[in-house]
Amino acid sequence: MTRIARAVGAPRIDRRIYGQFAEHLGRCIYEGVWVGPGSDIPHRNGLRTDVIQALRHIRVPLVRWPGGCFADEYHWLKGVGDERQPMVNTHWGGVVESNEFGTREYFELLQQLDAEAYINGNVGSGTVAEMQDWIEYMTLDATAPMAELRKRHGREQPWKLDFFGVGNESWGCGGNMLPLHYANQYRQFQTYVRQYGAQPISKIACGANADDYEWTEVLMARAAEHMQGLSLHYYTLPTSDWEKKGAALDFTEFEWHETLRQARRMDELVTRHSRIMDRYDPAKRVSLIVDEWGTWYDVESGTNPGFLYQQSTLRDAAVAAVTLNIFHRHADRVRMTNIAQMVNVLQAMILTDGARMLTTPTYHVFDLYTDHQDAEYVDVPVGSFGPDIDATASYADGAYAISLTNTGLHREAEVSFELPGAVTDILRAQVLGGAAATAHNTFDAPDAVALADLAVTVRGSQVSLVLPPHAVATVRLAVAE
Ligand code: AHR
Repeated sequence: MTRIARAVGAPRIDRRIYGQFAEHLGRCIYEGVWVGPGSDIPHRNGLRTDVIQALRHIRVPLVRWPGGCFADEYHWLKGVGDERQPMVNTHWGGVVESNEFGTREYFELLQQLDAEAYINGNVGSGTVAEMQDWIEYMTLDATAPMAELRKRHGREQPWKLDFFGVGNESWGCGGNMLPLHYANQYRQFQTYVRQYGAQPISKIACGANADDYEWTEVLMARAAEHMQGLSLHYYTLPTSDWEKKGAALDFTEFEWHETLRQARRMDELVTRHSRIMDRYDPAKRVSLIVDEWGTWYDVESGTNPGFLYQQSTLRDAAVAAVTLNIFHRHADRVRMTNIAQMVNVLQAMILTDGARMLTTPTYHVFDLYTDHQDAEYVDVPVGSFGPDIDATASYADGAYAISLTNTGLHREAEVSFELPGAVTDILRAQVLGGAAATAHNTFDAPDAVALADLAVTVRGSQVSLVLPPHAVATVRLAVAE
């Protein structure tokens, strides 16, 4: 029987691994979170209450904003004060961006979510002065031009800016730079991300696209001393072909397994990027921040191709669980990740249709995994429960949380394990499953895929349960040690 127990020196699973990403893309910001003060949709200060309530439930620790590719075209001054200046969102559908949601609205979102700030600055088409001014506008408590502007805009106190990204995908949509050129740009721009308040701003450098190890090598060699984090972007495509990625809802058994195989590539990427970082930073001061990850399919038919709207099934739930398990295994270096994206875009937590909303299977995985936030990592070696079961565990407050994913499509799996002491209470036993792997929620049946109770048998310190096919579960057990 598999033994699950704490180990000396185990890392903490940073709650920021459960971070979200909200870009000005499609209906993520507008309609997804922001409906505006004049809307009939219930809201508080323009932010829809149903979405906020759902996101609070999964304890969103931070939100990355305003992009993505959008970040390198964003000019923050157009999105502050009473007179907002529209622009064209050239990356995402060529639609007019009203800039109605700007700096103040972002911090209002964070306040309602009780989440931290992660803003991505503009290096690709912005200037050093523009970035410096934005930092001053947000964080300086003094009589200086940008701080005064903020006060004239109705905000006396500075905001707390926790993380600041210096450019996004600077190797691609953020300026098509070569690694050494970006390393120099990073060194210059980050100098002016001034530290005004007592709260430190953690600076994050743009990291590699998937397996571009040279990028990591150059950034670590040339700029590591100026950063607290280095990012990594990797998306799971069922076909690994950007021209024909595959459908979100209609997939074969082969595509289920291929998608999971592509998702598991995250382990190799994180391992190899970490190895490079270890050479320059053996103390692991710099975090590896996977600030874009998730499934990317062909858009739903009839929707704007630039809006990246896709549905989400139990396949996405399995991808989320398997990927989060990988992040747990690398918790000593991976201290923040941001799934793409929070609402209505790619592997979203929430989908909306006007006033209606639904939570996706991925949302329920994030719910099942809230028990791991800031908990102590407990190693469960890969394959401990056979080839189909992907597992992770953690310990906090006298209880072990064990999450299990059955990646098999046909057979239920009997799982048993032993804990270091007698189980004194079952604090959680829930499963996310469905009749078919393609099960998903719709606006007419928003709870077709939802958490259900899971039967667990406990004999002293021994635990057993049966996991249905294509299902994800979490049990949290109080243990007398
Ligand atoms: O998440 C969608 C896009 O994917 C982001 O804007 C960009 O950074 C990445 O290429």
